[in-house]
Amino acid sequence: MTVMEIREPGGPEVLQLAQRPVPACGAGEVLVQVAAAGVNRPDVQQRKGLYPPPAGVTDIPGLDIAGVVAAVGPDVAWPRPGDAVCALVAGGGYAEYCVAPAAQCMPLPRGFTFAQAATLPEVFFTAWNNVIWLGRLAEGETLLVQGGTSGVGLAAMQIGKQLRGATVLATSSSAAKRAVCLEMGADAVVDYREADWPEQLRALTGGRGVDVILDGQGGDYTPLELGLLAPDGRLVLIASHRAPKAEISTREIYLRRLTLTGSTLRARPVAYKARIARELVEQVWPLLAAGRIRTHICGAYPLAGAAAAHAVLDANQQVGKLLLTVSALADTLPEPPA
Ligand SMILES: NC(=O)c1ccc[n+]([C@@H]2O[C@H](COP(=O)([O-])OP(=O)(O)OC[C@H]3O[C@@H](n4cnc5c(N)ncnc54)[C@H](OP(=O)(O)O)[C@@H]3O)[C@@H](O)[C@H]2O)c1
Repeated sequence: MTVMEIREPGGPEVLQLAQRPVPACGAGEVLVQVAAAGVNRPDVQQRKGLYPPPAGVTDIPGLDIAGVVAAVGPDVAWPRPGDAVCALVAGGGYAEYCVAPAAQCMPLPRGFTFAQAATLPEVFFTAWNNVIWLGRLAEGETLLVQGGTSGVGLAAMQIGKQLRGATVLATSSSAAKRAVCLEMGADAVVDYREADWPEQLRALTGGRGVDVILDGQGGDYTPLELGLLAPDGRLVLIASHRAPKAEISTREIYLRRLTLTGSTLRARPVAYKARIARELVEQVWPLLAAGRIRTHICGAYPLAGAAAAHAVLDANQQVGKLLLTVSALADTLPEPPA
């Protein structure tokens, strides 16, 4: 099969087409003929040599896919060969075939093409894990999403608004991106390049502070974000692009009962991800089908054009999701079940 592999750590040019054997699926796994694959920030980190695949996982990048099941291993009740699925995978999405744990496969939301569905798993699993489970966002609370037009950010903002009735605040770097945040459900957006962004955000809460913050920046943002939390607030870290270390006041944590937490999804057990998959299909997929939650796609490239997609991410020009179209099925709707 044709795959896009990372020849060595480096810039987008290290992404090169290659031929590899079609992988075999084991117990509890399925082989998916990939129609489209999502492109995510962690793929860029992997390309740079900063985010290696967990032990035992293929070195082919790509964390989410949509396609048609070509074969199933033992102990798989669903999906069956011929079924259309989208799936979260720990790697291997940039390829014509990809093995996925059956428990991480989901049907496509009604009305979604394979290409649209391929943009969902990584960002919605991440948003659910961090905003709903770790952040414990409750009805009517205030959610701040750093980097509102990131794929994860748009998913998080919409989950917060549609499922928790949250007041959603976001940060963003350009007027065009701020307009997209507002269009996708943010109540207010602040330019993080302005030095007083924490004060601007606090003013938007009437001085009370924010209940949940989702952040991929870390470093010097961490003390500012702790300071911005309301009593009992939760700061959820999902990356540390600014710096891995921060100096914080531990006193703030106990005086205002703050929670500082975070996660990475990739190395979590299948059973953990399976629980997220079930909750997404029950609670988010109907809203996607109804158009109340949307995916925002800013670019689609053929598998051979993965380097161009990565260059967009390197330049921070993406707004929402980038994807790779891998087969002619990408822009089609799946066949209805027999
Ligand atoms: N832990 C996990 O399980 C997990 C899984 C997936 C992704 N992630 C992380 O989640 C984040 C989003 O991923 P993605 O693929 O959706 O990302 P993405 O589309 O690449 O977006 C990155 C975002 O970071 C924002 N940003 C850059 N500098 C910033 C700053 N100084 N202050 C605030 N925001 C800033 C950008 O905002 P502008 O475009 O406005 O500059 C952009 O919205 C990334 O940090 C990624 O590493 C974590």
